[in-house]
Amino acid sequence: MWGRLWCLLLSVLTATAVPGPSPRRPSRELDATPRMTIPYEELSGTRHFKGPAQNYSTLLLEEASARLLVGARGALFSLNARDIGDGAHKEIHWEASPEMQSKCHQKGKNNQTECFNHVRLLQRLNATHLYACGTHAFQPLCAAIDAEAFTLPTSFEEGKEKCPYDPARGFTGLIIDGGLYTATRYEFRSIPDIRRSRHPHSLRTEEAPMHWLNDAEFVFSILVRESEASAVGDDDKVYYFFTERAAEEGSASFAQSRSSHRVARVARVCKGDLGGRKILQKKWTSFLKARLICHIPQYETLRGVCSLDADTSARTHFYAAFTLTTQWKTLEASAICRYDLTEVQAVFAGPYMEYQDGVRRWGRYEGGVPEPRPGSCITDSLRSQGYNSSQDLPSLVLDFVKLHPLMARPVVPTRGRPLLLKRSVRYTHLTGTPVTTPAGPTYDLLFLSTADGWIHKAVVLGSGMHIIEETQVFKKPQSVENLVISPKQHSLYVGAPSGVIQLPLSSCSRYRSCYDCILARDPCCGWDPSTHACMETTTATANRTALIQDIERGNRGCEGNRDTGPPPPPMKTRTVLRGDDVLLPCDQPSNLARASWRLNGSVGLSDGQGGYRVGVDGLLVTDTQPEHSGSYECFAEENGLRTLLTSYSLVGWPEPGPAKVPSASDPSVSSPGQLVLLRGRACRSRWPQCHRPLHGPCAGWS
Ligand SMILES: *[C@@H]1O[C@H](CO)[C@@H](O)[C@H](O)[C@H]1NC(C)=O
Ligand SMILES: *[C@@H]1O[C@H](CO)[C@@H](O)[C@H](O)[C@H]1NC(C)=O
Ligand SMILES: *[C@@H]1O[C@H](CO)[C@@H](O)[C@H](O)[C@H]1NC(C)=O
Ligand SMILES: *[C@@H]1O[C@H](CO)[C@@H](O)[C@H](O)[C@H]1NC(C)=O
Ligand SMILES: *[C@@H]1O[C@H](CO)[C@@H](O)[C@H](O)[C@H]1NC(C)=O
Ligand SMILES: *[C@@H]1O[C@H](CO)[C@@H](O)[C@H](O)[C@H]1NC(C)=O
Repeated sequence: MWGRLWCLLLSVLTATAVPGPSPRRPSRELDATPRMTIPYEELSGTRHFKGPAQNYSTLLLEEASARLLVGARGALFSLNARDIGDGAHKEIHWEASPEMQSKCHQKGKNNQTECFNHVRLLQRLNATHLYACGTHAFQPLCAAIDAEAFTLPTSFEEGKEKCPYDPARGFTGLIIDGGLYTATRYEFRSIPDIRRSRHPHSLRTEEAPMHWLNDAEFVFSILVRESEASAVGDDDKVYYFFTERAAEEGSASFAQSRSSHRVARVARVCKGDLGGRKILQKKWTSFLKARLICHIPQYETLRGVCSLDADTSARTHFYAAFTLTTQWKTLEASAICRYDLTEVQAVFAGPYMEYQDGVRRWGRYEGGVPEPRPGSCITDSLRSQGYNSSQDLPSLVLDFVKLHPLMARPVVPTRGRPLLLKRSVRYTHLTGTPVTTPAGPTYDLLFLSTADGWIHKAVVLGSGMHIIEETQVFKKPQSVENLVISPKQHSLYVGAPSGVIQLPLSSCSRYRSCYDCILARDPCCGWDPSTHACMETTTATANRTALIQDIERGNRGCEGNRDTGPPPPPMKTRTVLRGDDVLLPCDQPSNLARASWRLNGSVGLSDGQGGYRVGVDGLLVTDTQPEHSGSYECFAEENGLRTLLTSYSLVGWPEPGPAKVPSASDPSVSSPGQLVLLRGRACRSRWPQCHRPLHGPCAGWS
């Protein structure tokens, strides 16, 4: 059933033409299986924090002081980023009063979910203070908090211009040089807005004659310091990522109604914008937005965005996680795309769209563009023409800005296609960090959270994405609400409804051989030939450049190394009666490894032939005959590398019958004892007292 749906989706996805520079690869090729699966029971090196609150959804990491600041429902916490579970945290209780809560309930809000104080904004205000805003039972409040004392002030600030009322509403907020940049839908019925407050020049988006934002749900915002090292005296910019209702062309060809058709967007404003003097007074003069395409815009909902290298704007790039939604509600799939800032900049420097009143639809604007170019920041060349700030811009330019917020060309992903199309997964957030390997190249390491409490750790390669592992970080399935990386603490912090979890960025000691270490393709891990161990490249004390890594291909470097694999256990002997079935157990070390079996050192065994069944748990020999006797070796084959895992000597007994069964007084499987291994029907019919279920050896008889 699922398979059929997936095929359907693939054919829809591949049949739709989307602008993009490179031809589309089949979607299946872009799927990836996590190499390792780490269930909750096998987690190691994690630390937990759980306070007397819920919804630990706002995280602010301060690397310099090694504090992790957390905004939750009804509380704020200051945790030690080195060990969030050390018990030495500070805490602020900040709940809406019972009167506020009942007033909220009377207004028709849900008192189980909406009438609390969900902290939505937590940012550094200045050297001494933090700034926090909470929904406060549908009456948002903000507070400047002394970071050292970590107590609430005696007076609060009005929050209705800065924070959403609804705890579930998309929101993003930053404090930049003291100014508060927020984007959300604030009050209950208001339209969404990108605002700057706590600033001498408060600004917002335009509402008339058209809304610049259309039912937008905000996901992420980031400051890019484009003024630094700019040859043209450029301004810093704030980029916003969101989904909104698409008004423009392109949606009509789809069966979905135009009104419900939502697309992903990127927008930006200039930090130095002061608004216009007469036109666009107290409004952004530099607001521009463009469509963000990953795979098939009609099916995409933007879930999470992260930016890398935002300090050096030439190399700044973004990763975005989308979920693909279709009319088949049972189908779950996610896509990951990468975008270069240079591409976003090129789109904002390109043609505009315009609403054409005559035909009542959006089309590419073909007329003349006034000077200075509408929506641009104030640069040296504008200053030299006497435009010292946005307030000096001519009316003609500002009138144009008002009506042309949307660019004609969409932003296409790097390489013109997604890095990953993953089925059966709903990603909720992502974050990433560049990891520089000892050999020089830098790889982006991404962490993706799922709606059921798992984290996928992935490395971005030239060929796509390799998922190093999937980790179940919460026993009870819950939607991860936030992710933050600390390169300094080598940690990932995960915020969720039930608490915060700190995970190490890598656990290289998990890989026991040189092969295993390079097959993992973890840029944080390298094989150290001098200590015969897979080491964290950052902590390896030995000669870093001697560490063996092969991130790009994942199979070179261990040649001539004696540590190719752990020594296989000694050969085990299995004796089986004629006509019975026997399972030779052999577990594969990774989800990407394929089992291969060899008989007598040369004959390869294939599934379904000669009575052999090759399974994930081992080799099943059915209806055993004396000819099946011999030595069996089980290998793991992965990425062109082969490791011997285990070997058996199988002895087929000519005559059936319990008389010849060896004494079972010692049922241990290891040599030299010979334990008859039977499965299923044969096992139970011969020894009814054997309780071993269908799978696995029959070892409980007496
Ligand atoms: C929510 O309101 C209902 C009805 O007024 C009340 O019975 C219940 O105790 C309230 N729950 C909370 C958590 O305040
Ligand atoms: C930081 O801001 C707070 C609140 O506005 C103010 O009381 C405090 O004096 C400021 N501190 C500095 C160092 O500017
Ligand atoms: C812009 O600044 C320059 C130098 O400060 C000044 O001479 C000029 O009059 C200013 N122009 C406007 C339009 O304010
Ligand atoms: C808060 O956590 C609960 C689960 O405990 C979840 O159902 C709810 O959606 C969360 N609320 C927000 C606003 O994240
Ligand atoms: C480190 O290892 C590299 C490669 O094996 C070698 O060329 C270099 O000389 C070593 N450096 C030191 C200081 O041992
Ligand atoms: C494997 O070796 C055993 C014992 O040496 C022999 O009896 C058996 O026939 C061999 N099987 C094959 C398929 O060569």
